[in-house]
Amino acid sequence: MLDLKHALWELEKVVDAAQLENFFQIYLWKKGFINEEFKVMLTLPAEEKKDRGAKLSDIKTKLTEAYEAKQQSFKMGQINQQLEKDLVDISLDTSSENWSYSLLAEVRREVEEIFKSLWFVMEYGTEMVTKFENFESVNIPLTHPATEMHDTIYLNEKDPSGENFVLRTHTSSMQNYMIKKYGVPLKALVPWRAYRFENMDATHDTMFYQVEGMYIGKNISIAHFKSLMETMLNAVLKKKVETRMRPGYFPFVEPGFEIDARYEYLNPKTGKKEMSKRLEILPGGMIHPEVLKAAGVDPAEWRSGFAFGLGMSRLAAIKYGIKDIRYFTNGDLRFAKSFA
Ligand code: DAH
Repeated sequence: MLDLKHALWELEKVVDAAQLENFFQIYLWKKGFINEEFKVMLTLPAEEKKDRGAKLSDIKTKLTEAYEAKQQSFKMGQINQQLEKDLVDISLDTSSENWSYSLLAEVRREVEEIFKSLWFVMEYGTEMVTKFENFESVNIPLTHPATEMHDTIYLNEKDPSGENFVLRTHTSSMQNYMIKKYGVPLKALVPWRAYRFENMDATHDTMFYQVEGMYIGKNISIAHFKSLMETMLNAVLKKKVETRMRPGYFPFVEPGFEIDARYEYLNPKTGKKEMSKRLEILPGGMIHPEVLKAAGVDPAEWRSGFAFGLGMSRLAAIKYGIKDIRYFTNGDLRFAKSFA
């Protein structure tokens, strides 16, 4: 009787579609070995017939399965070959002539690394947010003139309450979400984009990068806030930065501050070390009780924490001495590469 092992061994040696077809003709085709054996079986006495029939069926099934598996693997091989032939090698043209890191991305990554090393949780959040998230959850009532501080871009899409979504005008719109998601105490960072309906000029763009930070605990003071901001600025600007705090108004903090910074630098004209001008670098303050309440946190228990909103483009512009922030996003490689 046909030897299954031998047939399988022959199948294993098959290397192409033509040989496989040959194998099929020899073994599995209607005039092949197996059917011939069935024919012989029919001539056997009854008791032998049964036994032989079962064995032959078993051989036929196993061989068919092995044949089909081989056929399948050839098909995959053909597909892969085709794919390889059609492959467009997008990695081919990456000589340093044709790409560059974005300065903004570099600075953002630096800021992210600093806060990650201090165990801040980080999310980019969504750019499309509800009016509640963008305004009311951070204590800006929709009727309040403060809403006019932002020229908001409204979207056609509606949120579940039937209100139009907005493109977030500030990363503060993620405060409510982060507090609800992670609870208190909380150290959280939300870097990424925000949008405003602006007339574009050297210091304004409709899309810009911000970093929102929050630190909520039980004994957090303004001193903690100031020292964390200094740590971060020293690390990003790679300079010993001197900060000054002025009062500033933002509905989501009380008291609110503007932080100004100055640092020593080498004046290229005089060749001497000088102190820079004071630069308004970032706003922040102690989180307003209404913001905590809106996120379901009891302000009597947790009213100690700060938030800040860092303008990435501004920080990057200060770091690299760039006068026009539109350079960051216009994709001009001559600009980006001059800092590589
Ligand atoms: N959301 C403010 C803006 O876009 C920035 C800001 C100010 C964020 C003070 C804060 C803060 O968290 O405390 O202008």
